[in-house]
Amino acid sequence: MAIEHTFSIIKPDATRRNLTGKINSVIEEAGLRIVAQKRVRLTREQAEGFYAVHKERSFFGELVDFMVSGPVVVQVLEGENAVAKYREVMGATNPANAEEGTIRKLFAESIEANSVHGSDSLENAAIEVAYFFAQTDIVG
Ligand code: RTP
Ligand code: MG
Repeated sequence: MAIEHTFSIIKPDATRRNLTGKINSVIEEAGLRIVAQKRVRLTREQAEGFYAVHKERSFFGELVDFMVSGPVVVQVLEGENAVAKYREVMGATNPANAEEGTIRKLFAESIEANSVHGSDSLENAAIEVAYFFAQTDIVG
């Protein structure tokens, strides 16, 4: 297995409840390393661009409203098989279906306010990392 980078967002429902540290603990205990991190407020344009793949979905407008409703923490995570590993650590999109011990089972409020985002492929991870970070921001 290769060392990969994946992209993570701690979403507004989680920053609102002051859960950044607790979520970072789950990430680190799973063996992933936070190699870049910043707290930002997404503009509507950034959120729409980031979620452009979902723009035909019924929930797109609500999703963008939610993602700009408060600060987020954007991160690059490094580790063996990091893309698939972080998807496991996050749990299912709907917290009702998430496994015990996953971030979404522990912290998510709903299918939308589900506390974290993680890239769904290595290709998308590279695109998403580049959306927010320069290579020089990533310190392994
Ligand atoms: P993410 O992209 O945030 O890591 O989540 P995901 O892959 O598990 O889910 P995806 O299908 O990519 O959906 C992106 C985000 O849209 C919101 N969502 N709302 N109301 C709804 O039915 C609904 N479905 C999805 C969630 O915030 C989801 O994470
Ligand atoms: Mg997704």
